[in-house]
Amino acid sequence: MNLNMRARIVAGNWKMNTTPEEGKKLVSEMIPMLSAELTGKVHTILIPPSLHLTGLISLFKNRPMNLSWGAQDCSTHTKGAFTGEISAAMLQSIGVSYILVGHSERRAYHNETSTSCREKILRVLEAGGCPIYCVGETLQEREAGQVTQIIEQQLSEGLPERLWEESLPFVIAYEPVWAIGTGKTATPQQASEVHGLIRQWLKIHSSAQTATTTSILYGGSVKADNATELFNMPDVDGGLIGGASLESRSFVDIVKACAR
Ligand code: PGA
Repeated sequence: MNLNMRARIVAGNWKMNTTPEEGKKLVSEMIPMLSAELTGKVHTILIPPSLHLTGLISLFKNRPMNLSWGAQDCSTHTKGAFTGEISAAMLQSIGVSYILVGHSERRAYHNETSTSCREKILRVLEAGGCPIYCVGETLQEREAGQVTQIIEQQLSEGLPERLWEESLPFVIAYEPVWAIGTGKTATPQQASEVHGLIRQWLKIHSSAQTATTTSILYGGSVKADNATELFNMPDVDGGLIGGASLESRSFVDIVKACAR
């Protein structure tokens, strides 16, 4: 196996949807459809509400190889008087391997900035987890010709150097804000352009090795019928799926579209 090969990844971000019972039903439908062959080719990450994680992790101990659990957020702090918060270490201790950081909904509704994302990424790394750092421009920024500037700023403010200094694993998700939950997907060319830009940024600011091995996912209205053309683009290594991850068949079809 080529060690420089990047992982193909499909992550399902359930957001604030499903009761714990509905979540169990969803996973129990998905698992039989995720064959060993498929999970050998694509790493699948399920990101339910944090409330569901303990139950799902213990119920699906015998999950397929290459299916991991993720959380939608964590605190910038390690512990203490921060009512309502959940720490990266708590999540890691129950078997959560991936944590989303800087999703545009967190940036928009919870005043998260790339600087606070940097703190969260550091907490995830200290806990031994893998951050999935989300970046993306708004429609207004795209129309003003600011895509490069915004993405580069989110990368340079959000990503701690520790990642490449210590060769720690991380994933980047490019999610144009105008494409999330709107049914408007970026064209494969638009996605590929920004993914190329992110990879180039990594090459310049981290190392060639990091740039080559870091998986960059596309997110924003990915569905079973547009996934193949997006995932076939050169720098697109998979997807971060919202709405379509809430239906087992469509999510598994997206995982299939990512297999190579
Ligand atoms: P969507 O969400 O697939 O529903 O557009 C993607 C995301 O927010 O991660």
